[in-house]
Amino acid sequence: MRKRSDIIRSHYIERVSNYSIPEHRVLDWASHKSQFTRFEVLINILKITKEGFNNKTLLDVGSGLGHLAKYIDGNNININYVGIDLISEMVERAKQTSFDNINPKFFVGDIFKDLDVLNGISFDYVYTSGIFNLNLGNNKKFFKNALKLFLNIANDVVCFNMLDASYSKSSDSDYFYSDKYEIVDITKKILSKSGIAYSSIKLVDNYLPNDFSIAIFLK
Ligand SMILES: C[S@@+](CC[C@H](N)C(=O)[O-])C[C@H]1O[C@@H](n2cnc3c(N)ncnc32)[C@H](O)[C@@H]1O
Repeated sequence: MRKRSDIIRSHYIERVSNYSIPEHRVLDWASHKSQFTRFEVLINILKITKEGFNNKTLLDVGSGLGHLAKYIDGNNININYVGIDLISEMVERAKQTSFDNINPKFFVGDIFKDLDVLNGISFDYVYTSGIFNLNLGNNKKFFKNALKLFLNIANDVVCFNMLDASYSKSSDSDYFYSDKYEIVDITKKILSKSGIAYSSIKLVDNYLPNDFSIAIFLK
């Protein structure tokens, strides 16, 4: 089986090196609007945490071209942003972006192999958008491992999105569609096995026909 990082790199590398195509296409999103709608869902989820955003630090796993940082900056949201991506060319482009209100940090690396790349920073929120969408051949196993790690490094909230199997049953091409209820069940099982305390799990599936988000509120 091909290595996960090779599949991901070969999927994105030509597009990230091409500055003439729209940025949402570099990242494999159908439109700028659908990409940013996913960010909006995250921010609406976090808004209901009683602490608010002040001094909270968010880790964005698979930060791509830094668009979530741009969204946070443009909406004057008071969050410390840290992004990490496997592909150095993505991070180089993200670092070229100018920001008015925030000072985001971007790292290159694979936290599933080496957490030290994040220099021991502590995170309140761990978020990821799009890293579970490519068909990697072992998506469920990858998701379970990723979720365990996210739950270990987040203090307050873990949030992720996935492509919705009720929109397309076929996961045999480049993309992988997940059953949202099965993902909620897997999440509950992982939480119960790990003994991590949580207050609730929220499934949001009313923003795009082909996508859903899940948030886990810890403590
Ligand atoms: C669909 S794009 C989304 C980018 C960004 N989240 C956004 O919505 O604008 C997925 C990104 O995740 C990155 N990625 C995939 N798996 C990763 C991993 N294990 N660690 C870090 N980055 C990863 C890819 O390189 C790519 O930049």
